[in-house]
Amino acid sequence: MMMNQSLNDAMLDDGEAREAQSYADNFGESGFDDPSRMYISQKYDGYTEENQATWTALYDQQMGYLSEHASDVYLDGARAIKLVRDQIPHLEGEKSINTYLGELTGWQSRPVPGYLPAKAFFACLSQRDFPTTIVIRPMESIKYLPEPDIFHDIFGHVPLHADPVFADFLQTYGKASLLTDDPYHTERLSRLFWFTVEFGLIREQGELKLYGSGLISSPGESRHALDSADVERRPFDLDAVCETPFEIDHYQPILYVLDSFEQLRDGMNDYAQRILEGVGNEKSG
Ligand SMILES: [Fe+2]
Repeated sequence: MMMNQSLNDAMLDDGEAREAQSYADNFGESGFDDPSRMYISQKYDGYTEENQATWTALYDQQMGYLSEHASDVYLDGARAIKLVRDQIPHLEGEKSINTYLGELTGWQSRPVPGYLPAKAFFACLSQRDFPTTIVIRPMESIKYLPEPDIFHDIFGHVPLHADPVFADFLQTYGKASLLTDDPYHTERLSRLFWFTVEFGLIREQGELKLYGSGLISSPGESRHALDSADVERRPFDLDAVCETPFEIDHYQPILYVLDSFEQLRDGMNDYAQRILEGVGNEKSG
C-alpha cells in the first residue's frame, strides 16, 4: 500500500499519517493493540481536479464492462453504498459510503496511511473495519498500478462488504488470522485471501462472474480472467485453495470459482473452528 512520496504529500496530513504508521509498524507489541490508532482522516479537500478526473476515468473504464460481467452481489453492493462516477467517494459524514455500509452490515472503511503489517490488518478485519488506502494513482498510471489505491480498495473491495454473507466471511477470516501464529495456517490463509477476496470468480445463473477486487479493479485482468484460454478455472474447494501457491507479478493462471458466497462463508467457519481447536496445541508445540 506504499505510494511514492510526492503522491503522499498531496493527499495525507504528514504528522497524522506518520503517527498512525508508526503505531501500525509496532502493532502487536505490548501497548499496541488498538486498531483505531492506525486510522487517519480522509482530508477530502486535498484531492485535486486531476485526482477526481482519474476516479471518473477509472470508473468509466470498468463499470460498463462490470454491469454484464461482475457478480450481482458486487453490483447490488455498489448501488447500496451509492458508488458514483463523478467523484471520489467520501468515507465519512452524511451520505458517505460508511453511513450506508454501517446500516447494512456494520462494516466501515477506515483510512490508513500506508502498508499495514499482517496482524494489524487482521485486527481491523476482525472488528469489521477495512483498512483503506485513500490516495489515488496519478493519471499517467491509469492502466496499471502495482499497489492498491483508493480505486482498488473502495471500487474493488467495498461493495461486497454490503452483503451480509460476505461480511460475515471476511470478519471470520480476520478473527481466525489474528488468532493463529502457526506458519502453516498463516500461509494457507494468505492463499485463501488471494484466491477469493482478491481474485475470486463465482458462477451465477450458469455464467462466470467476477467478484475479486484485483479483477474488479483491473481492466486488463478482468477480461483475461473470463475469456483467456490460458486460465484454468477450478471449482472452489477451501482446502485445495489453501494448498495452491500464487505469484503476484503476472496475470493469474489459476482461478477458483464459487457456487455461492454461502459456500465461502461456511467453508471459512469450518476452517476457523479447526484453527481454534489447534491453537492450544500450537502454543505447547
Ligand atoms: Fe486488495
